[in-house]
Amino acid sequence: MQINSKPFYVTTPIYYVNAEPHIGHAYTTIVGDTLARFHRLLGVPTFFQTGTDEHGEKVVEAANAKKMPVRDYVDQISGKFQAAWDALEISYDNFIRTTDPAHIRVVQDILQKVFDRGDIYFSEYAGYYCYGCERFVLERELVEGKCPDHLVKPTFVKEGNYFFRMSRYQDWLIDHIQGHPDFIRPERYRNEVLAFLKEPLEDLCLSRPKARVPWGIPLPFDDTYVTYVWFDALINYLSGLGYPDSPTFRLFWPGCQHLIAKDILKPHGIYWPTMLHAAGVPLYQHLHVHGYWQLGAGKMSKSLGNIVEPLNLVQRYGLDQVRYFFLREMVYGLDAAFSEEAVVGRINADLANDLGNLFSRSLAMLFKYRQGKVPAPATVEPQDQAIQELAQAVWEDYRTLLTGLEFHKALMRLWELIGEVNRYIVLNEPWRLHKEQEHDRLDTVLYTLVEALRWVAMLLQPIMPGSAAKMLAQLGQAAEGEGGWSLSSLAWGQILPGTSLQRGDPLFPRLEILTPAPAPTAAAPAAPLQTKEEIDLTTFRHLDLRIGTIQRAERIAKSDKLLKLVVDVGGPRQVVAGIAQEYQPEDLIGKQVLVVVNLKPAKLMGVESHGMLLAAKSEGRLVLVGPESPVLPGSPVA
Ligand code: MSP
Repeated sequence: MQINSKPFYVTTPIYYVNAEPHIGHAYTTIVGDTLARFHRLLGVPTFFQTGTDEHGEKVVEAANAKKMPVRDYVDQISGKFQAAWDALEISYDNFIRTTDPAHIRVVQDILQKVFDRGDIYFSEYAGYYCYGCERFVLERELVEGKCPDHLVKPTFVKEGNYFFRMSRYQDWLIDHIQGHPDFIRPERYRNEVLAFLKEPLEDLCLSRPKARVPWGIPLPFDDTYVTYVWFDALINYLSGLGYPDSPTFRLFWPGCQHLIAKDILKPHGIYWPTMLHAAGVPLYQHLHVHGYWQLGAGKMSKSLGNIVEPLNLVQRYGLDQVRYFFLREMVYGLDAAFSEEAVVGRINADLANDLGNLFSRSLAMLFKYRQGKVPAPATVEPQDQAIQELAQAVWEDYRTLLTGLEFHKALMRLWELIGEVNRYIVLNEPWRLHKEQEHDRLDTVLYTLVEALRWVAMLLQPIMPGSAAKMLAQLGQAAEGEGGWSLSSLAWGQILPGTSLQRGDPLFPRLEILTPAPAPTAAAPAAPLQTKEEIDLTTFRHLDLRIGTIQRAERIAKSDKLLKLVVDVGGPRQVVAGIAQEYQPEDLIGKQVLVVVNLKPAKLMGVESHGMLLAAKSEGRLVLVGPESPVLPGSPVA
């Protein structure tokens, strides 16, 4: 496979030290880590940077609130970010702090360059200032006179300040964005920036009087002023590489990819490219913008008191489980809902059930039938060939999807392989082959299984590094750095016959749902279960229940509840289901569900339905019901 080996530089935002790390920060950092690990595994020179943003008024306020000297305060919170990322095994190459002397020098150097070019001027300015945003806001940005992000009325401020002639670069920026369709992605954010650029762009106020804000980097051409925190912060992406002269800068800057959430789109999509252009530095390659993790109805924030700490989550569920959840659950670019029920659901369904069971079941068979040694395959039949071809196709798609930051789709594709290997076991019945002494066939089936598992483990390395390493060790494979196979040269058949497998603990133990129903108390004895009218067995047997595999799913126009599905129940069936509020169509493909197949056909919103999917109703939500492990489509349920 063709590997793009252009050096890869990936950055997260540098996080403000006025709050402690939460899962929103952890998400972007885990995405960065996954991309960095993936590129390293492909042999691409990689540099991954994260860090902390330590200047500005908000930081001073936070230090004052804690009655700490600002310097001690920033050291403490920055240390907490570093400790959190170390506990999450984030493989950053550089952790930058904007209080680092090397960073301060670069900020001053760039300010001077832009000043010398005539792009910075002094002017008296009067306007509305939002202390939360730390910037002057335009009247048209306000909602009912308040800043929509901080819900406070901005203060009227009049002061002399330095300005960056950003307006001069408006047309140039529009041209650049239009000429480079993937400069800002996904497209919705590119459109948002272009829509913003339809209005005249104002110049950017880039200073604060030192008398009012002493905690900042002094302007090199007027030390009675410090630089505005965004002008300081954005430059971290250059200073961290050793701009302007270091070989690291020259090697990595051309492949620069920024990861951010939508909250800081404007500084990254508008201020930063114009600043770079004014300083004579080529632009970053891509800005990848993601949505928010929402808790309950709104965004997570310190003021709302609904922060989820990443370390706490990792201690309860395990690091790789949390990484998998984040990457599988959020569609990069869109908001996603966070709940611990969703974390437990994913762990149990995808990890414990699909992957963990497949792995332990396969290894158990290899120990039982072949004393834990990989057999040599005999004649390869079409169904074995099909697994090889699927593994190859999945790897190609997976690589493209990961490179395009479509983590949820990459994982769904990989889980198709896992599902298919589970079905391969059901179809080939190794226990029967053993009983009937079909030794050659059993060798081929077991080899195919073990090799498919190795592919799964190899592909999971950037997502769940610890678990992938454990899987590879149980498969008798050395780590990549210790003579093991490299992802960049993955090929079918690399696991050698005769390899000794290792026994291990279950990879992903099943979890109990953490919020059990309250136990009935003596004072309020449980009410007897209210049921529908009793039926006899004959009536029950009239129901024809089958397991079906969802093959296609799409929304039905003008309905926010209904989905049109094609379900394989031993043959394709069109079924309409009222589950559009709980399930995205693309998440349903490959899912096995319980279907009533002998209901009289009915028309819903003009679409024919030939059956009904069964779902549990819990707290007003529908949850589809399916088999505990994969079975053949059309299997009867009795
Ligand atoms: N210091 C600035 C960034 C300067 S970069 C040159 C800043 N810091 S921040 O601490 O507020 O971090 C914002 C970033 O944290 C978001 O862009 C995103 O990466 C991450 N997130 C914070 N809350 C989040 C969610 N609720 N959901 C997803 N990501 C979130 O802005």
